[in-house]
Amino acid sequence: MKATIALLPGDGIGPEVVAQARILLDAIAARFGHTFTIEEGLIGGIAIDETGDPLPPETVALCERADAVLLGAVGGPKWSDPNAPVRPEQGLLKLRATLGVYANLRPVAPHPAAAKFAPLKPELLEGVDLLFVRELTGGAYFGEKGREDNGRVAFDVARYSVEEIERVTRRAAQLARGRRKKITHVDKANVLETSRLWRSVVTRVFGDEFPDIEFEHVLVDAMTMHLLHRPASFDVILTENLFGDILTDEASVLAGSMGLLPSASIGDGRAGLYEPIHGSAPDIAGQGIANPYATLLSVALLLRHSLGLDAEARAVESAVSQALDAGVLTRDLTAEGAVSTSQAGEYVAARVREAA
Ligand code: NAI
Ligand code: MG
Repeated sequence: MKATIALLPGDGIGPEVVAQARILLDAIAARFGHTFTIEEGLIGGIAIDETGDPLPPETVALCERADAVLLGAVGGPKWSDPNAPVRPEQGLLKLRATLGVYANLRPVAPHPAAAKFAPLKPELLEGVDLLFVRELTGGAYFGEKGREDNGRVAFDVARYSVEEIERVTRRAAQLARGRRKKITHVDKANVLETSRLWRSVVTRVFGDEFPDIEFEHVLVDAMTMHLLHRPASFDVILTENLFGDILTDEASVLAGSMGLLPSASIGDGRAGLYEPIHGSAPDIAGQGIANPYATLLSVALLLRHSLGLDAEARAVESAVSQALDAGVLTRDLTAEGAVSTSQAGEYVAARVREAA
C-alpha cells in the first residue's frame, strides 16, 4: 500500500526515539512491500525556537494530509518560563484538538520478562492486560484557564458535554467487545459535577447500547490503589483527560518503565496521532540512552489503527517482544549491560526485516 506518514520528533528525547521509528518504518516497507512517504514537521519547543509558534501552520497542513501522525514528545526546561507567551504543550494540545482525536488508547500488558524489571511482585503482574481509554480533548486541559487578583488566584475550568462523553464511551465499549467485555469507568463523582455527568451518561450508554458489556464505576483515588493491588482484575479502563494522564503514568510501573508504553489517539477523522506516553525526558536527552520501545510500539498501533496493517503491527510487537526476551534493554530497564537507543532500535528493525 501507499501511505503518507507525518513524523513530529519534537524536543528532548523525541528526535532520538523518532529516528528509530523511521528506521522501523523503512524496515516494514521493505519487508512487506509498502511505499511510505515520510515527512517531518516541527512541533513544541523546537517549533517555537524556529518559528515562534508551537504548532506552525505547515505542521497542521502536513498532519491533515497525512494518513497518520507519529509524535515524539514536546517540552523541556528551556521553554518552562511561566511568563513565556507561548509554551510547547500548547502545540500538542492544539494538534489533538485540530485532528479531533478524542479517544486516547493506552494498552498496558506487561511483557513476561517485565517481572525482571518491574518493581512489583511477579505474581501481581500475571494476566495483566489493560486498555486505558482516556478522553483527550476535553476537561481541565482544554477549559478556560487564567489568573485573577494580580496573579494571586489561578483557575482551570473542567468542562464536559454529554456528546463528548458519549462518543468516547462508545469507542471504549466497541473496543471492550473485542476483549474481555468489562469496563471500569473511573471518576470522582462524590465531589465533581463533571464526574456526576460522566456517571449518568456512561450508565445510560451502556444500558441502552451495550447490554453485553459489564461495567462498574470506581472513584479515582481508590483506583490508584486497586491498580497496584489487583491490576489483573481490570480490562478496559475509561476515564476523563486528567485522571487518564495520571493513571497511565502509574500503570507504567506495571510494565516496568515509561519507555515501554505506547498510545494511539483516534477520533472520527482520517488521521490518528500516535505517541509514547512519556515526555521529553530532559534528564537523559542527548545521551543516546532513551528507551525507544514505547515509540516503536506506537508505530505498531499506527500500522494497525490508521493503516489497517495488522500483520505488520504484529511483526513490530513480536520484534519488541523478542528484544525484551533477548535482554536487549536500555538503561531504564537494566543496571548492567544496557544498550543504546540506536542499538535497541536496530535490533527491532532487524527482527522485522527477517520476519516470516
Ligand atoms: P517524562 O515522561 O519526560 O520523564 C519522566 C521520567 O521517566 C524521567 O526520569 C525520564 O528520564 C524517564 N523516561 C521517560 N521516557 C523515557 C524513555 N523513553 N526511556 C528512558 N527513560 C524515560 O516526564 P517529566 O520529566 O515529568 O517531563 C519532562 C518534560 O516532558 C516536561 O517538559 C513535560 O512538560 C514534557 N512532557 C511532554 C509530554 C508529551 O509530549 N506528550 C508528556 C509528558 C511530559
Ligand atoms: Mg502524561
